[in-house]
Formats: sequence, structure tokens, C-alpha cells
Amino acid sequence: TQKTLAMIKPDGMSGNYTNRIKNVILESGFRIVKETIVQLDEDTAASFYAEHSTKSFFSNLIKYITSGPVLVMVLEKENAVADWRDLIGPTDAHKAKVTRPHSIRAMCGLDSEKNCIHGSDSTQSAQREISFFFKEVSTGAAVTEHDEL
Ligand code: GTP
Ligand code: MG
Repeated sequence: TQKTLAMIKPDGMSGNYTNRIKNVILESGFRIVKETIVQLDEDTAASFYAEHSTKSFFSNLIKYITSGPVLVMVLEKENAVADWRDLIGPTDAHKAKVTRPHSIRAMCGLDSEKNCIHGSDSTQSAQREISFFFKEVSTGAAVTEHDEL
């Protein structure tokens, strides 16, 4: 099996989409193996999204992703990385509503920024992002772990 990182973004949290998203996750055959709710500060957010630091939308992205708590989850199933990207749909939630009406971003996203959910884009990104949030040796951040929901 494979693991990937999912994150319900602040708009997904404030819009109360958590339970609906978790239902889709479980119905689609993923196991939620770790989860934690965190409030990202600007430095942590900038580090998480470092690949976008030169993009024109970067400062807006950092404002958005730090605007409230996020729910970070490690998902596990066969082919988890590609299957999770497929399930969340395209980056632009506008487009998702047209081309992928059953995707998660079609359900809870708004536009190309406020798209309510994150998914690692490769197995390499998944490894980096999982260890970004879930260090084996905790350095102070609260981490909740469990095997079943
Ligand atoms: P993530 O799963 O969050 O990484 O989304 P993605 O892989 O589908 O898109 P990408 O990594 O290219 O962009 C990261 C995030 O930046 C997106 O999910 C959006 O929230 C935001 N973003 C991407 N493109 C734009 C844009 O053109 N304008 C604005 N304002 N935000 C953008
Ligand atoms: Mg991305």
C-alpha cells in the first residue's frame, strides 16, 4: 500500500465539510491512519508551499492557508497518491464543478485559490509532506494517532 497527505484547508473547515469529506475518503477505500488539526503560522505555511514561493499568488496563498485551522491526514490505500489526486479533482474548483462534478473540490471548493482540500502531487511529495507534519520524534506539536476511525 501507499500513503499520501490530505489537508482540509481553512475554507473546508469553516464550511463544516469535514464529515462529508471523511465519508468520501472512507467510501473510496482509504484508511485515515493519522490526523491532526493545526493552525499554520506564516513561516510554516511558506515552508510547506516552498515550491510556489516565486509565484504571483504566493502571498495570497499564505494568507489563505493561515486564515484558520487545517485538518491534516495521512491516507493509506493502494495507489493512494494518484487516486487521492483524482478524487479531489482539478486545482480550480470552478473547473471541478464543470468537469468533475463528483470530485471533492466540486463539493466544497470555490475557485482556483479556495479549493478546500490538498493532496500530495507525487510519492516524493507525499513522503516530504507526511514527515513535515508527523515527525517520528515529536518536537512539541500535538499529534493524534489512531488506527481506525
Ligand atoms: P494543493 O493540493 O493545495 O497543492 O493544490 P494543487 O496541487 O492542485 O495546486 P498547486 O500546488 O499548483 O497550488 C497550490 C495551491 O495554491 C492551490 O491549491 C491553490 O490554493 C493555490 N493556487 C494555485 N493556483 C492559484 C492561482 O492561480 N491563484 C491563486 N490565488 N491561488 C492559486
Ligand atoms: Mg500542489
